Amino acid sequence: MDFDIPTRGGLEEKLQWTRTNAFLRNLIHSAVDGIIAADIKGKILTFNIVATEVFGYTKNEALTNLNVRDIYPNNKAFEVMRLLRSEEYGGKGKLRSYQTDVIGKNGKIIPISLNAAIIYEEGREVATIGFFHDMREELRIKNVLEKTHIQLMQAEKMSSLGKLAADVAHQLNNPLAGITLFAKLIMEEYDLEEGVKEDLSRILKDAKRCLDIVKELLEFTRQTGHLMRPHDVNKAISRTLFLLESQALFQNIDIEKDLGFSLPFVQADIQQLKHLFMNIILNAVHVMEGKGKLTVKSYLLPDSNRVCIEISDTGPGISEDILPYIFEPFFTTKEEGEGTGLGLSMVYDIVENHGGNIKARSKPGEGTTFIVEFPITAKANGGDESEE
Ligand SMILES: Nc1ncnc2c1ncn2[C@@H]1O[C@H](COP(=O)(O)OP(=O)(O)O)[C@@H](O)[C@H]1O
Ligand SMILES: [Mg+2]
Repeated sequence: MDFDIPTRGGLEEKLQWTRTNAFLRNLIHSAVDGIIAADIKGKILTFNIVATEVFGYTKNEALTNLNVRDIYPNNKAFEVMRLLRSEEYGGKGKLRSYQTDVIGKNGKIIPISLNAAIIYEEGREVATIGFFHDMREELRIKNVLEKTHIQLMQAEKMSSLGKLAADVAHQLNNPLAGITLFAKLIMEEYDLEEGVKEDLSRILKDAKRCLDIVKELLEFTRQTGHLMRPHDVNKAISRTLFLLESQALFQNIDIEKDLGFSLPFVQADIQQLKHLFMNIILNAVHVMEGKGKLTVKSYLLPDSNRVCIEISDTGPGISEDILPYIFEPFFTTKEEGEGTGLGLSMVYDIVENHGGNIKARSKPGEGTTFIVEFPITAKANGGDESEE
């Protein structure tokens, strides 16, 4: 682009030229795409507003200190020039919609889509010009969409699994009731030896345990609306643990319960409470890889209008750089298909819904503690009986 003031021509022509030039400068400067032009040595001639925003250099810095080669990571500039000069990517001297990375002032890698051209004068290369736009937002949205898709499939799977579990639980109810009934009949109607009686009571005890698990499963999978009532958090914890304890994953997990005695109730939806504890506990047991200690504590805070629940594990802990992100939806360190990264974000929502707060404390190598607080309710027990 020739910005030199014409030496020949009258005043009128010079004025006209100045206006056109100012207009062009404005056009380039305020374009919605980033525009960078450089001479053949790479010295930057034009660096518009969007370019300054994307890269973080001021226009002045770019024009005085920056070489166009420096904005590409590891010699990528030469690759761009090679492609520009070849015929294949939009014709000789042109490059269209080329996806590449550039480096911002702070060292950050920025994905861009680039349209570039070589400017020739009498067949000689004199400059290059690039029009680009920052792809970060587009890539982020694409990423979120992909994750939403995975999450939807996962949710679908979970909901059909939930239905299946409810169905199985339902079907087990009758035979279990039969086992219990007939074992009781034998116990009462026959004069049995002591040893046999003992065996029978063992059968009854185990059948009762099965019935309890079935009941708990049915309750868990029951889709209830949000029902806020005064509840004992200890009960929600115990029931969740009861359901989980018998899982193979918990076999070598030492569970320590230290639940505060006669804690005030919290206004809560019991399903959501159980869901919350289940998510935290499952994460904890998952990271301990089947071996370690799970500690669940509950107590009344000294200010005595909140109850606090602490769930600790002896897993690998969470490093400082990821700790701030664990409650974000879709944040997961698990392999694709293993985790959705939604567990803790649901936990967070539930805690918010209940006017509480949650934090995670962790030191790598020393395990993790999740601390949940709920405000207590002045109302007395209202809902727990209907649960029984
Ligand atoms: N007890 C824990 N110890 C270590 N890391 C944890 C623990 N709980 C959660 N995390 C980290 O937080 C991430 C997000 O957890 P979550 O939202 O439940 O999603 P997911 O379990 O599907 O990965 C996990 O991938 C893991 O990196
Ligand atoms: Mg999880």
